[in-house]
Amino acid sequence: MSLERTGEVLAHDKQKEVEAVARKMTSLDPDARGDWLFTLPFAGTGMSNPRISLGEIYNFAVSIMALDPAPGDWILDLGSGSCWVSEWLSRMLIHTVSVDISPDMLRIGQQRLGPGARLAAGDFEALPFASGSFDGAVCISALHHVPDIPRTLSEIRRVLKDTGRAVFSEPGRGHASSPQSQAEMQELGVLERDVVAAELLDECLRAGFQTAQVHPYLFPLPAHSPEEWRAMQASGEPRLRSDKRDAGPGVNPQAPGPDQQRRKWVQRLLAPLRAPGGFRPQQREPMERFLMGQDARLAWQCLVGVRNAIEAHPVVVAGKEERRPDSRRPARLRAAITVLDAPRQVDAGERFAIRVRVRNDGDTLWLARQTPWGGFVALGAKLVDTNNLLVVHDYGRSLLGQDVEPGENIEAEIGLVAPTQAGEYRVKLDMVDECIAWFEHMGSPPVLRPLTVTRVE
Ligand SMILES: C[S@@+](CC[C@H](N)C(=O)[O-])C[C@H]1O[C@@H](n2cnc3c(N)ncnc32)[C@H](O)[C@@H]1O
Repeated sequence: MSLERTGEVLAHDKQKEVEAVARKMTSLDPDARGDWLFTLPFAGTGMSNPRISLGEIYNFAVSIMALDPAPGDWILDLGSGSCWVSEWLSRMLIHTVSVDISPDMLRIGQQRLGPGARLAAGDFEALPFASGSFDGAVCISALHHVPDIPRTLSEIRRVLKDTGRAVFSEPGRGHASSPQSQAEMQELGVLERDVVAAELLDECLRAGFQTAQVHPYLFPLPAHSPEEWRAMQASGEPRLRSDKRDAGPGVNPQAPGPDQQRRKWVQRLLAPLRAPGGFRPQQREPMERFLMGQDARLAWQCLVGVRNAIEAHPVVVAGKEERRPDSRRPARLRAAITVLDAPRQVDAGERFAIRVRVRNDGDTLWLARQTPWGGFVALGAKLVDTNNLLVVHDYGRSLLGQDVEPGENIEAEIGLVAPTQAGEYRVKLDMVDECIAWFEHMGSPPVLRPLTVTRVE
């Protein structure tokens, strides 16, 4: 039974973590020497359970979505094990450095990642990196092996850049006392502990991170019968016992108005989630009495589902500071494009230019600097016919001379070459967040300029 808090420093011989893999490997049948570490998250000799594979893949997807890295980022894979997380990240054009206390694990990682592998044998509690080195850190199923979590969090914060974030995806309440953990602690000597969401959030803030958030990890996925789903679709806002619309005997006519009631309802509903240590069973009954009707029951079930998911497996993201959206990780991409100068008619094959003024009407900083993996904004042109059907997709591009803040204007010129076929065309001008999206696809209006192309005699 594990009763210690996340902030508590436990006595533990970390050499046991180093020896665990070796012990596991040498104790296996020589024909089945754990080659699944080379195939993770997929099956291999010694592991062919699709549920385990899917759990690993889901864990990766939830954690990395929560971290929200951009291509070109430098990400630290903490407790990388056999480095499959690093391997998958590199397929997303993300640079990784894998760190693990176990050289045996890193040897497997070296083989998986090949000659370009960047690996470091090291301890979370004293990371072998300079301060401010990384854009992000991912720690999947490793923090719960560490005796001093507060120190580890400070170390991780230290090696992140100011805009850096770290994600922790860890087993939650009940992990240390589970039969599997008990067996592994006994057979391998490794440390297993519960990572409790509320405590980890507090510890992140205590370590100096400015933001900390927890995401629900819904695995296995919740299932709903057709009746339940119909009821969920039909449900409106939960009603209150004291709501005047449901006024009945005992209703206080002086009760606050619906808006205030709603606010109060939400506060009451969230209170158990915020309470240190989470929700206690004895809180359920007053809560249920406070709520009423089918809608409220559904809302309650959803809340309990999310709460249980968070308790069983917290996915916590901590940020060194508030991060604002830029074109590497855009939020709202909107541009107002005004044509300043454009020819109405050109000869076939003639070079011409269009000059525009563009205002950043979204909330995302447009980065101008070109990178091999995109994430910078350029002025783009497509060539379409008079029915707006595509003729040339990448008709032209013009890099911006500077970054553009939301609300800011910039002038740009795009050089184009008229098609060799005479006829009526339109130039569609739009901004493009390179390798991410054309602004039109995000709901931003492009500008269409008619273009007559005449035959050269
Ligand atoms: C359960 S494995 C997870 C591996 C990998 N993240 C994955 O998802 O496949 C935990 C890893 O954390 C490493 N580890 C344990 N304590 C550590 C410490 N103090 N510093 C660095 N790594 C540690 C172990 O050697 C092991 O490889």
